[in-house]
Order: sequence, then structure tokens, then C-alpha cells
Amino acid sequence: MFKKTSTASGYRDPEVLVGLDLGTSKITVVVAERDGPSGEAQIIGMGQAPSHGIRKGLIVHLDQAVRSVKQAIGDAENMVGLELSEATVSFSGGDVQSVRSRGMISLGRSPRTVMQLDIGRVIEAAQANLSVPNNQMILHTIPVEYFLDGNPGIDDPLGMTGMRLDIDLESVIVPIATVQNVFNCVEKAGLTVTGFVIKPLASALGSLTPEESVAGAVTVDIGGGTCGVAVFSDGRPKLLAVIPVGGDHITNDVASVLKIPINKAEEIKKEVELFVADPEKQGDTLEFDHMGKNYSYSLSELTEIVQCRVEELFTGYVKPEITNAGVSMLPAGLIVTGGAARSVGIDQYLSRVLDIPVRVSAPLDANRMPPGRNGPEYTCAAGIIRYALEQERDPFRYMEQSMEQIINHNRNIGVPAGGIRRSVDDQAGDDSRPPSDSIIQAIKNVIRELF
Ligand SMILES: Nc1ncnc2c1ncn2[C@@H]1O[C@H](COP(=O)(O)OP(=O)(O)OP(=O)(O)O)[C@@H](O)[C@H]1O
Ligand SMILES: [Mg+2]
Repeated sequence: MFKKTSTASGYRDPEVLVGLDLGTSKITVVVAERDGPSGEAQIIGMGQAPSHGIRKGLIVHLDQAVRSVKQAIGDAENMVGLELSEATVSFSGGDVQSVRSRGMISLGRSPRTVMQLDIGRVIEAAQANLSVPNNQMILHTIPVEYFLDGNPGIDDPLGMTGMRLDIDLESVIVPIATVQNVFNCVEKAGLTVTGFVIKPLASALGSLTPEESVAGAVTVDIGGGTCGVAVFSDGRPKLLAVIPVGGDHITNDVASVLKIPINKAEEIKKEVELFVADPEKQGDTLEFDHMGKNYSYSLSELTEIVQCRVEELFTGYVKPEITNAGVSMLPAGLIVTGGAARSVGIDQYLSRVLDIPVRVSAPLDANRMPPGRNGPEYTCAAGIIRYALEQERDPFRYMEQSMEQIINHNRNIGVPAGGIRRSVDDQAGDDSRPPSDSIIQAIKNVIRELF
């Protein structure tokens, strides 16, 4: 059995990776064990608790949220027989923005090899072109595409030769307060935060096959209170967005149109088929008793209520995000996941509405996850482990220095959008990630000062 360890003491259990998904409907903790030197990890257990104090992905009642997180941690600890000490945390929240910027540097008057230092410099140049409000911070900095001497589509310029390096950078910007609240919540619940990942990124990593992510695809995680959108192409995220609409809105629609309580509406919603191919079925009715009263509704009426919200979500919110991503083709189509992806016929319905191939996805790791906890509502949690592994393999892919940025912002030292300069330069000389122990300790100190 692993002992509860403190990163402050400098010791971290190298064998176990923990992901914590702060959902609107449920909190999920996923525990994975490293698979020896392969660099992979196997999920060995999961914990879960109903989510309280979180609305549309945002913490609205800290103590309630802390209690829910503690319960989920306890559940996971019971399942795996380990005491957990730290986690990478996924969260969302209303005001998440994904902003594109371009940076350019000269490599000199004659062609030379691109070094790590140059990659740091070009990222810095792109960030200097961003303007981030004082109350917001960059959570992820994602290189979308490099250009060498104007040639696009360079996946990794390191070691290549040229005279000019350009980059298209996608930055995920979130309110500082949201991150601080999540950090406080998880730490109060007894886990040290080792990293953050925005939910749509974790969901995409949890569901997209490598082929889909290279060909071009959009993943949509429809949860209880939010919908996470990630557009991938050439193996990289081109846009990440959080829409504050989820499956609970469908429940509310059913409740308000039929004038029935929420819990009954939730039950009925799950019976509704979004795509009714058989015309004979459309005349069917759904009957149920509630508080001694008998209700009867035509299935087509119920289908229409659900379709209406789903269509609005996809045509009104998701489609514009896909357009914003600037990806002309998505040959691998739409991958739908999250609890609401369980809606019967959602794939056929969305395929008709959007005219693209649609696949409903459980986590890629479903066969390694406990039965009953491996459906689409667990994709994001499983994706956190993939994210953490990916970060170790390639720290420049999603730019872990976002953790340092929290400190910089918290210290209120007026670091502008390009304020990760020191960290980028540090990494240029040394490929290893910044020592997260000291980062987390610094965050703690700053938060203590602030509150
Ligand atoms: N069989 C089903 N049919 C339709 N909807 C379902 C079904 N099962 C669950 N849902 C819906 O899925 C939603 C919860 O999904 P999920 O567990 O992925 O949310 P979450 O991750 O906690 O929330 P979020 O990601 O928005 O913060 C609820 O709205 C629930 O009603
Ligand atoms: Mg979710």
C-alpha cells in the first residue's frame, strides 16, 4: 500500500497517476498505474461522487464541492487500496476562450538549424501578440502549426534548417478566479494539484483515435451543465471551447414543457429516441404514473423537445466554434461523448443535422476501466491520464508552463501575456518540466497571501 505522500517533502510516488474530473453532475477520480518503462499507464480504479456546489462547471459553493471531491477520493482509495496524494485536475467554467496568435522570428542571414531556444522564442513572440485581461490567465499554450521559411505544416521544427520560423499558437484563456477556486477546492479535499487540463482537451484525448486526430475531427463532450468542444487536425488541437449548455438543459426543457418535476423529467428524457427511423413508432405514446396521476405523451412530441435543444446546441454553438477553428475539412467527422451522448439515436440525428459522420464514443481506455464506469460520461476523466502522460512525453505540446503563469498572476507582478518568458527560456536549456513541487508550493503561498 502506498503511503500518503507530500510533494512538499520532495517525494512523489512515481508509479501512480491520478486524474480528477470536476463535473457538474459527478466528480470522478481515476487512478492509473505506470506500466514500467513503456511510458504507458493502466487504469486500475476509479472513484465517483455526486457533484454538489458546482454549476455549469463552475464552483458555486466551495464547502459542498470540497465534500463531493473528498467523497470521490475516498471511493477511489477504497477501490484501489491506496492512499492518494496528488492529481491532475480537469475543469471548465463559463468564460473559457481559445485565442489564436501568430509569432515570427528570424534565424539569421543564412540558413541554420532550429534549436529548442528558437522554439521558446517564437512561442514568446506569438504570446506577445496576445492581450489577456488582468483577471484572466493563459491555461494552455498550444502550438497549432509551425512554418519554416514560409512553408506550412511543420509538425516539429526542432533540428530542421531555415532562416525564418513562424508559429500559429492557440492559447486557452480562463479567469484566474476560476483556477484559484478549483485549486483551493482540490487542496482542501486533501490532494495536491500537479496540473490542470481544460475539460474539452481531456475529453478529446480520451476519445479520439490517433487516425481521427490527424485526419481532422471535432469532439463534443455533452455533460450535465457544459459542453466541451475540441477541433483537432494534423494531430493537434486547433480550438478548444466550453459552452455552458449540457444535458441538464434538456431535462429542464422536458420538465417545463410537460410540467413535471425534474427527477421525473430526467427519467423520461433517457427513454426518448432522437432519431426515430420507423414511422410506425412515431405514433407511440409514453405513459407513466407520478404522484398518483397518470401521464401520457406522444413520443414524437417528446422527441421534438429533445431534438430542439440538441439542434440548438449544435447549430447555434458548436458549428460556429468549428468555423472559428479555421479547419476546412473534418473527414473523421464528429465524435460525441459525455453522459448526454447516451441519448438513443443521437449519432444518427446529428449526422442528419450536420451532414457529417458521427460516432458516439466511450473512453478509448474503456476495456481497462471498471465495468459500469467505462461509458461516455467517463471519457474526460480517462483523458486526464492520457494528458498527463502526453505532457511527460512532450512538454511543449500543451505548454505546462501555464502552472507558472498562475504563480506569476497571483504574485501580481504585472507579467503580461508573454509572461512565461523565463519558463520558456528555462525549458530551452533543459527539456525537463519545471519542478512542480516548488510551483505548487509557490501557488499555495500566494493563495494564502490573497485569502
Ligand atoms: N441515458 C441517457 N440519455 C440521455 N442523457 C443522459 C443519459 N445518461 C446520462 N445523461 C445525461 O448526461 C448528463 C451528465 O453527463 P456527465 O456525467 O458527462 O456530466 P458531468 O461530466 O458531470 O458534467 P459537465 O461535464 O457538464 O461538468 C446529465 O444531463 C444526464 O441527464
Ligand atoms: Mg464532464
